[in-house]
Amino acid sequence: MNEQLENQFKHVAIIMDGNGRWAEARAHTRVWGHIRGSRIVSEIVEEADDLNVESLTLYAFSTENWSRPLLEVKTLFSLLKKFIKKEKKRIIANDIRFKVMGDISALPDETKSLIYDLEGLTKNANGLKLNFAFGYGGRDEIIKSVNCFIKKNPGKELTKEDLSENLLIPEIKDVDLLIRTGGDMRVSNFLLWQIAYAELYFTETKWPEFKRSEFRDILFKVNERERRFGATRKTDSLEENESKAEENLRYISDSSSSVRGN
Ligand code: FPP
Repeated sequence: MNEQLENQFKHVAIIMDGNGRWAEARAHTRVWGHIRGSRIVSEIVEEADDLNVESLTLYAFSTENWSRPLLEVKTLFSLLKKFIKKEKKRIIANDIRFKVMGDISALPDETKSLIYDLEGLTKNANGLKLNFAFGYGGRDEIIKSVNCFIKKNPGKELTKEDLSENLLIPEIKDVDLLIRTGGDMRVSNFLLWQIAYAELYFTETKWPEFKRSEFRDILFKVNERERRFGATRKTDSLEENESKAEENLRYISDSSSSVRGN
């Protein structure tokens, strides 16, 4: 049995970037980069499952990716189809719940049927929640959620909870770790609402070269970070800190000097 993480990750999200550059650096087409990149997906899913991650969301096609050449778009469509066909049995056998989030209306009917079929077959699965963001945009998701709420509750004021409850997959928790491969440091319209307090991890590794061992290392490393959610660090000498803070507060209230002290 592999070493397990001290704390469970509720939701890990990955921006699988760098396919195009990886391929071009090897004098291949960008499409080849996606094909090679798709081979890595299964082993990362397997590792997430082994590490008892509750939800894993993979960014496979963004709303912005529509502006790519048609051949590249079609390749990404068929890689999703191929993944489902190849992994269906394993997903079911491992009790993985499969979902696609985003606008898939433009996908071929056969692919849509495969998606709906696997979503239906796994809807009561209790293991890893595996989500593919496809035809997905974070801003679109937020707008959809707000509109959905307004329609159901005309005139009512929206709360944070209402917005969360009307997202595309409301039951998945906030992202606690967002990984981006490929060296760029952006969030690219991915899960904008859900990443509010996410730990961010950027690796130079291009997606086709990303391995389960690096994924595992990242999770163990990030597991050691202290997550404070805007609060202060936990300290041993709370009383001592409080009396110092009170002293500082008195100084601010009593002092007629400016912040610079002159
Ligand atoms: C970004 O790389 C990646 C994508 C737009 C798609 C990611 C898709 C896969 C990894 C394969 C899909 C697999 C399944 C199973 C659906 P990029 O082309 O923008 O890379 P670049 O930044 O080097 O140009």
